[in-house]
Amino acid sequence: MTRKLFVTTALPYANAPFHLGHIMEYIQADIWVRHQRMSGNEVHFVGADDAHGAPIMIAAEKAGISPQEFVGKIAAGRKQYLDGFHIQFDNWHSTDGPENHALSQDIYRKLKAAGFITSKTIEQFYDPVKNMFLPDRYIKGECPKCGAKDQYGDSCEVCSAVYAPTELKNPYSTLTGATPVMKSSEHFFFQLSNQKCVDFLRGWALQDNRLQSEVANKCKEWLEGDGGLGDWDISRDAPYFGIEIPDQPGKYFYVWLDAPVGYLASLKNYFNKTGRDFDAFMADPTTEQIHFIGKDITYFHTLFWPAMLKFSGYKTPDNVYAHGFVTVSGEKMSKSRGTGISPLRYLEIGMNPEWLRYYFAAKLNAKVEDLDLNPDDFVARVNSDLIGKYINIASRAAGFITKRFDGVVTSDWATADDAFIQHLRHAAPEIKALFESREYGKALRAAMEQADLVNAYVDANKPWELAKKPENDAKLQEVCSRLLEAFRILTIFLKPVLPQLAAQVEAQLDIAPLQWANVNTPIPHQHKIHPYAHLMQRVDIKIFDQLFDAPVADAAPATEEKTSDIEALAEEIKIDDFAKVDLRIAKIVNCEHVDGSDKLLRLTLDVGEGRTRNVFSGIKSAYQPEQLIGKFTVMVANLAPRKMKFGMSEGMVLAASAADEKANPGLYILEAWPGAQPGMRVR
Ligand code: 2FM
Ligand code: ZN
Repeated sequence: MTRKLFVTTALPYANAPFHLGHIMEYIQADIWVRHQRMSGNEVHFVGADDAHGAPIMIAAEKAGISPQEFVGKIAAGRKQYLDGFHIQFDNWHSTDGPENHALSQDIYRKLKAAGFITSKTIEQFYDPVKNMFLPDRYIKGECPKCGAKDQYGDSCEVCSAVYAPTELKNPYSTLTGATPVMKSSEHFFFQLSNQKCVDFLRGWALQDNRLQSEVANKCKEWLEGDGGLGDWDISRDAPYFGIEIPDQPGKYFYVWLDAPVGYLASLKNYFNKTGRDFDAFMADPTTEQIHFIGKDITYFHTLFWPAMLKFSGYKTPDNVYAHGFVTVSGEKMSKSRGTGISPLRYLEIGMNPEWLRYYFAAKLNAKVEDLDLNPDDFVARVNSDLIGKYINIASRAAGFITKRFDGVVTSDWATADDAFIQHLRHAAPEIKALFESREYGKALRAAMEQADLVNAYVDANKPWELAKKPENDAKLQEVCSRLLEAFRILTIFLKPVLPQLAAQVEAQLDIAPLQWANVNTPIPHQHKIHPYAHLMQRVDIKIFDQLFDAPVADAAPATEEKTSDIEALAEEIKIDDFAKVDLRIAKIVNCEHVDGSDKLLRLTLDVGEGRTRNVFSGIKSAYQPEQLIGKFTVMVANLAPRKMKFGMSEGMVLAASAADEKANPGLYILEAWPGAQPGMRVR
């Protein structure tokens, strides 16, 4: 029976380009979708930008443009990543689209009519300069426990104490530096504590193997933990970039209310564009709704989202599949920052997107485990397995068919002695089932075991030996034809992961697009193939130097121990020596704290290159990130990138400091006069 599938990946915030974690999730879902299509199922795979919320509103304001324009710019950059990694969404939309406004308001109205919306007046910090309520992340102050300065409103990075923003001593708004005042306002709540909600969620989350076991266990804890579920605050006051709450002027939905509705909105937008019936599709009880997400947002997807849908009368999700984070050589990558490897850089330096798809797939399973990208491992899997075991089969067989037999393949041997081919065919159901259950690593291992058998067949039959004597021609043609048939079957096994390569193979063999059902339909007897063209290059480990080498610098200004008033002058240099140091004007487009570092700030610098650089600078003691954002400074732009504990640093910003920093603390970064533009050389 043909399944009807509605598949999504988490909607990325429209305030930054994709990082490797996004790409991993999309590849995971894309492989599953392609597998479903190859199985003959109807799949609608959609994504969208998550456009709303205070951070995007504030970022747009800083950039001097409207939030709509801001998210539009980010959205315009999505295609190159998706196309580049062969991620085939049917539609990409925005949570700010009209469909989402209408659907979110409809869901709210229905929840309200069903008695699931309550309101109460709450007190919150308010920035009297900016005239807005402050989300917790924009409030800092001194830790109420240990007194450490500049701690966030929820927990202390120094002593790990957890507290409410109102407990901070000397709180300040990170937006304006103003002391926030308490102000009350009416907020709307989704009544998750309602017994009906709890009963529903227990059933939904814990039955039908809907969730991975570790996720189901977490849900159980959330549902049965102390006090159970609290009601969820779903409103925010103006100014806010979001969707207005019906009949409540000046009140908006909290971004997490309308974000998942964006899944439906994107599907609806797509169905409208393609003349399909959205309501009928969603009302069909056989439609399966499946969400791929990261482990950090399970709470939203396994409690809030299904409950919202249920009590507004919409279809509830059938499965939510969570994955872990991507690490690079064992280091944590930040979800929102894209440290380490830039996906676009990966493509720009000519790395094959299918290497990455293969590598991710080889390391993915159905559990919520982190996935480490390690260059040596990457090279080994691509070169030894993908190329050494699979691609080489084609290169060994197709050449003879072209050169010696005018491209003609036989298959009359198939009935006589096909134990070898049958073995491959028999592996198909298991491999297909492994794709179905998202055990891609196991699927590829099983495929490579079959490739090993094919290579053993090559070694046993030695086509290059057969080719030496014309009397062996019939045998040579048979052996090579068998090998191409084996290669065709292996290509089916790998096609969900390697769609582009599979398309090349289909073109070369001159056969229709491969489906799972084609495992048992061999290349016809006397079929003519096209001349063999090389299918895939090996990876050279050296390319990783370029990948990690996003140009950037680091911070900590070098100091020399000297006890004079000023530091001793360095040795004299010639103008040519100076010219080797390429100093550029850099705009600090973003600046943030670095988790786990009490010295560094992470700077995002625009040096006019059409991309930004990541630079770690040891200036945390001297600056608040907010003080630096938007400033123009000077950086060493041709310093070799340096891999630091927290990621790559692609350059160095200049800062003045005394020779004896202990006796005379203070760090002063340079600021350019107005008019200097990012990328201008400083000479
Ligand atoms: O965590 C995030 O990046 C959110 N933008 C994910 C939203 S997923 C869905 F709810 F839209
Ligand atoms: Zn503390």
